[in-house]
Amino acid sequence: MSEEKRASFGGKLSVILVAAGSAIGLGAIWRFPYIAGEYGGAAFLLVFAISVFAVGIPAMVAEFAVGRHSRKNAVGAFRALSKKWSWLGYNGVLGALLISGYYYIIAGWSLEYLTNSAVGSLYNSPLSFTEQFAEFQGSWRPLFYAIVFILLTHVIIARGVEKGIEKASRIMMPALFIILLIMAVRVAFMPNAIEGYRFFLSPDFEKAFSPKTIMMAIGQAFFSLSVGMGCMVTYASYFKKKNNLISTSFNVAGLTLLVSVLAGLVIFPAVFSAGLQPTEGASLIFVTLPEIFKDMPLASLWSVIFFTLVMLASLTSTISFHEVLTAYFAEEFKLSRKWAARTTSIVSIALSILTTCCIFDIDFLGIKIANVTFIDIFDKFTANILMPLGAMFTCIFVSWFMKRNFIHDEISNYGNLKGATIAIIIFMLRYITPLLILYIFIKNIGLL
Ligand code: PFF
Repeated sequence: MSEEKRASFGGKLSVILVAAGSAIGLGAIWRFPYIAGEYGGAAFLLVFAISVFAVGIPAMVAEFAVGRHSRKNAVGAFRALSKKWSWLGYNGVLGALLISGYYYIIAGWSLEYLTNSAVGSLYNSPLSFTEQFAEFQGSWRPLFYAIVFILLTHVIIARGVEKGIEKASRIMMPALFIILLIMAVRVAFMPNAIEGYRFFLSPDFEKAFSPKTIMMAIGQAFFSLSVGMGCMVTYASYFKKKNNLISTSFNVAGLTLLVSVLAGLVIFPAVFSAGLQPTEGASLIFVTLPEIFKDMPLASLWSVIFFTLVMLASLTSTISFHEVLTAYFAEEFKLSRKWAARTTSIVSIALSILTTCCIFDIDFLGIKIANVTFIDIFDKFTANILMPLGAMFTCIFVSWFMKRNFIHDEISNYGNLKGATIAIIIFMLRYITPLLILYIFIKNIGLL
């Protein structure tokens, strides 16, 4: 596709909303609260916030620079800069494939809960919420809803970059903020909410700086900011030359942090108010929150509102990794956008079926994997290994292996932007961010 004909996002606000749409998703609303719950609440929040600034922002700027400069899909973008480094693009495509194998399934859970809240069955069932969750997991409905989610994503992607991705983000992101704010205010009036604020806002420093907490926080920062797997490269290929890459990444990171904190401010006070524990794990928002809603007036309505929030947040993220694959198939295999999107959706459905078969311990093509929680393995592998390594090498590549002025030219818009942050980001990219990731990685090898 020639430079002039390639689609591009509208103004500054669109660019921020689209990239924040990718970033803010299950990571902030489902993954962050449950991991923070397991790793000490406030302690985890503190290390997470530091990780976002020390490693997340520089890595995002590096990906933006690669994508906007090349104006190509993840593989094409790295290849255009250096043939030797095109593997980084494949790393991104692999990451997008892996995430497609489980993200739609979890996103689909929100559809089941949304439907059950709307028809009232969630609160009228004789089963406890834990039993309902277990019954749901043991059925084929997660696969059904995952496929519905893939189809919803497909409809947006098939409409194109501007009419699909950009328009959806401009509508869904503000809706998401409003819902989250309403919920945070509502929860503040619950009895004993203060215990939750204490758990989430006053850190235990000893717990905070253990290697395992730091690794989980860095993994969370990458997962949540969508860096390290070609997503921001692909999105930045639709940016305009005048977009400010540094301020965009600060805005995206700031909004992601804000939503994660707001999600914590909704979930922890509610959990403590109901006398429950925040260490429920992956089922936290699906088991604990209904437990809380149940005692509130208009339980079903609050539940519908909350699971709509989860669904919207997930959808603006699924479109982003769908786009990584769609752009890759379209440009590398010369497919029309329509067929590239179809191919991606079919592959995503196949992967979701595979994951479901493995969860069910079904004999798939003679490979029998007993009792393995695939979702957990995929999730930890992408967040704690693939994304940090992808981001680390991207930082090294742009700051050490490209011509010296490449990164400076890109982030200063060829000298049009000035300021100390440019030099700081370049310094971080060269010396701090990759070393920090490497250090944590080595320290944690035994813990992986
Ligand atoms: N950032 C998304 C979330 O927090 O839910 C997940 C994600 C999207 C990761 C896109 C990676 C990606 F390329």
